[in-house]
Amino acid sequence: SKQNAQLADHILRLKKKKNAILLAHYYQEPAIQDIADFVGDSLELSQKAAETSAEIIIFAGVYFMAETAKILNPEKKVLVPDLEASCSLAESCKPEDFKKFINRYPYHKVVTYINCDASIKTMSDLVCTSSNAKKIINSFPEDQPIIFGPDKNLGAYLAKETGRDLVLWNGACIVHEAFALDKIIDLFKTYPHARLIAHPESPAQILEIASYIGSTSGMLNHVKENDSDTFIVATEAAILHKMQQEVPHKILIPAPAMADNSCACSECAFMKLNSLQKIYNCLVKETPEVTLNPETSEKALIPIQKMLSI
Ligand code: 13P
Ligand code: SF4
Repeated sequence: SKQNAQLADHILRLKKKKNAILLAHYYQEPAIQDIADFVGDSLELSQKAAETSAEIIIFAGVYFMAETAKILNPEKKVLVPDLEASCSLAESCKPEDFKKFINRYPYHKVVTYINCDASIKTMSDLVCTSSNAKKIINSFPEDQPIIFGPDKNLGAYLAKETGRDLVLWNGACIVHEAFALDKIIDLFKTYPHARLIAHPESPAQILEIASYIGSTSGMLNHVKENDSDTFIVATEAAILHKMQQEVPHKILIPAPAMADNSCACSECAFMKLNSLQKIYNCLVKETPEVTLNPETSEKALIPIQKMLSI
């Protein structure tokens, strides 16, 4: 729309004037992805945040991502369009409960998925994202017992892939939990040659029938490299924006969600709290800003830096 085009213009101008960089996740609405300086998966976004020379980072994603950017850049201003953009995984894992949980396993190392609060990262030996998780788990000696949280689906997948007996926290992503196996199977009747590609936050029954499992960037690369021309994509539907641009001639079908779920279109309600208007507002007012207790920030940095060096 004309209004969106004007907002986009204002954002681009202000961004330049204030030496700000706009980082966006693949789950952001297309209009946001289109004006971002960089669009990527969780790992790439934290790598970008670690190396930027901009004075202000506007993070169009969810809170734990912006918080990670702040931990990596304590001296920079990290702005978010909406402070309420949380994540069901982060919300499932409160520091007091996680502390009690890990205390029950004194000989275990703690690996946490980056989708958690800074307080949880301070209790972790290593952090991982979906694209480096296997490598991170395998960086420990084979006989090292490990706790993994907060995603039980990614955890179960990692246990299977690495052959390790991981102790799992009971959290899940509301978006990936909601894919409907029966509807996906129905889709195969219409598209018998389709390949199902799935994010490892999906439950085991979906992963079992997937021909490729990987992070958002992994899935994007896969549709480019694989010869098939039809893919059913089991992750947040906004990934189809960049994916379709990369493979305009291929058929991409978002995996259907269960009908009784509020987000039947497989959208992350948290990610979709962000808008061009909110990005513009936060750039003008330089708020809401991510603020962190310096002690928490320093402690949380250790397992993140270790991850980036592996
Ligand atoms: P990745 O982009 O690392 O695959 O993460 C997916 C996700 O759910 C982020 O919230
Ligand atoms: Fe969290 Fe799932 Fe939304 Fe990603 S898609 S931010 S894991 S709720």
